[in-house]
Amino acid sequence: MNELLQKLEKEHILSKKELIILLEDNEINSELFDLANKTREKHVGSKVHLRGLLEFSNVCSNNCKYCGLRIDNKNIERYNLTFDDILYSANIAKEAGYKTLVLQSGENQAYPRKQMKEIISKLKKMDFAITLSLGEKTFEEYKNYKEAGADRYLLRIETTDKELYKKMHPNMSFENRVRCLKDLKELDYEVGSGFLIGLPEQTISSYADDLLFLKQIEVDMAGIGPFIPNPDTPLANENEGNFLLALKIMSIMRLLLPDINIPATTAMEVLKPDGQIIALQSGANVIMPNITKPVYREKYSLYPGKNSNDNIAKENSETIKIKLQNINRGISEDFGISNAYLIKKSTF
Ligand code: 5AD
Ligand code: SF4
Repeated sequence: MNELLQKLEKEHILSKKELIILLEDNEINSELFDLANKTREKHVGSKVHLRGLLEFSNVCSNNCKYCGLRIDNKNIERYNLTFDDILYSANIAKEAGYKTLVLQSGENQAYPRKQMKEIISKLKKMDFAITLSLGEKTFEEYKNYKEAGADRYLLRIETTDKELYKKMHPNMSFENRVRCLKDLKELDYEVGSGFLIGLPEQTISSYADDLLFLKQIEVDMAGIGPFIPNPDTPLANENEGNFLLALKIMSIMRLLLPDINIPATTAMEVLKPDGQIIALQSGANVIMPNITKPVYREKYSLYPGKNSNDNIAKENSETIKIKLQNINRGISEDFGISNAYLIKKSTF
């Protein structure tokens, strides 16, 4: 086996320089993917965790250059789901056997804090693990939601290249984002983060930094998503991210943090047919099927193709089951708490 891969398998750490060598060497790709797959099997098992993704509001006050929900995009109709709409989707998720609900929205205050807490505790009472993905909030707000029953929080760092971060995220601050991740950890959330692959000006060196950042803050989950240009954004004419590179980076993530959860991201499927199945065979162990009412889905337009029908992430869990059976993988029947999180807890 390639020497660096051997070292990565044994020690779960490499220097930035070594990571760059791996990222630039395409000869090792299949060895890397196999090793990530084996490592996933050894550390988190063969079962795939399904998380029902509920996009409950597409209102966003931020203006991220790459995202279709940015405030400057006037080409989409904005919505806030009613409590009844949310319950409707939660029931679909229940029937489909999903154990986790992911409540995602643009960065806004679709619901005042008190109501948001009520929603969380109501859904928690339906015996779901609750993941929130609502963007940057204060420590107090994160604390309130944790107390209401939230278990996990997703907040991608997007890129650790500070210059690029600034360009991509007008009026936002890298430091505040890191502060949020630290607060979430302190509050004992299972913390998911991640980054984009293929933004203009992103480099191999910055991906190595991104990987090491997630290793350093010890995330419990990491979502690696290729960038897909959205025609309603200033990045409309940029190139899309490279599937193979995104897959490599995801596989290396598995080897750096073998016990975490790693989703096969929807963006991977958009770039390549069966992209999510390939990801599941290269280190990933999670899928996030969309359970939002179909009429709203097209309005949650982060990037084109996200809601296409041949996307594995549909509410139809039967289709997913068959696809998984074909690669000898089953659907997990437990909450799918990150092993990394459990290990950290048991060592306290
Ligand atoms: N391409 C790929 N991913 C995107 N996201 C937003 N816009 C795009 C895009 N054009 C991702 C961001 C965000 C997540 C919810 O969606 O990484 O964190
Ligand atoms: Fe808003 Fe998130 Fe899109 Fe940025 S990435 S514009 S914060 S929804």
